[in-house]
Amino acid sequence: MSIKKLPDNSGATLTVLDLDGYYLPTFLQLKNHEEELRSMPDWKARDDDVMICTYPKSGTHWLWEIVSMMVRKKAERIKTVKETAMMEIMAKETHDNIPSPRVLNTHVYFEYLPKDFAERKCKIIYALRNPKDVAVSFFNHHSKIREYEFSGTWEDYVQRYIKGDLDYGTWFDYTLKWEKFMTDNQDYPIFVTTFEDMKEDSLREVTRIAKFLGVDCDQTFLQEVNDLCHFDRMKKEKNALEQADGWKGDEPGMYRKGEVGDWKNWFTVAQSEQFDIVYQEKMKDSKVKPRFTLRK
Ligand code: A3P
Repeated sequence: MSIKKLPDNSGATLTVLDLDGYYLPTFLQLKNHEEELRSMPDWKARDDDVMICTYPKSGTHWLWEIVSMMVRKKAERIKTVKETAMMEIMAKETHDNIPSPRVLNTHVYFEYLPKDFAERKCKIIYALRNPKDVAVSFFNHHSKIREYEFSGTWEDYVQRYIKGDLDYGTWFDYTLKWEKFMTDNQDYPIFVTTFEDMKEDSLREVTRIAKFLGVDCDQTFLQEVNDLCHFDRMKKEKNALEQADGWKGDEPGMYRKGEVGDWKNWFTVAQSEQFDIVYQEKMKDSKVKPRFTLRK
């Protein structure tokens, strides 16, 4: 595993970790990171583990907070950040020491995760977000987190994003791989939602999540969890727990806008059309239909 600086068309670079051609972020590196990553398939799972699987910038923090409250059966702010339970930046020892029920999260492909997790058929929450809003959110993430050492332009970023010269590869590969996994493993307990569904009616999705997890709770609890996980409250209360010095300007940027359709403020018509052509080609055999806007 080595550090790689991925250049864009103008030569601006993005710093990532290269694990046999698969790119990961360099932040929060562990002492024996490569060993930890390579040994992850052999880690032990627990029957009540829940794993949130997403492509970056798809609402992982939001879901992690909701699910963490659900499994604790307490509508109370979670006092840690979701990165403390993120598989690819966690040592085995940390993983083993998290008390049950664990709410884990990851952006890596399923094949990197513990085999035991698959054998036990632990519950998965999978969330999808439309790839144009993901591009905008990821651009801001890459631009603001110091470790990426990135200061490229949006124009070049669109090409970088389409090509997959960034951590976790392309949205297309990730989404298609998950679609195949779900088609091939229909007996696997996977809850599917989208960022857009959550924005459309978060209480409805919170209620569905509770049902999927088998949490016996009343309407008041669901409403309280939903309220605590509202964007404004999370931005204020979770930002206070973030490590500010990892961000340029020492201001955490994980909770940025939290909207559907911000891409329209960033993509030019030409960029959007180019993206649509790539999208049609890459996703031609897919049944995935992300929503790029929400009807008011
Ligand atoms: P934006 O950059 O578009 O604002 P992830 O958690 O997977 O990194 O995703 C981050 C995105 O989810 C960011 O999107 C962030 O603002 C948004 N987000 C985080 N918490 C949210 C919440 N409670 N409600 C709505 N959006 C939220």
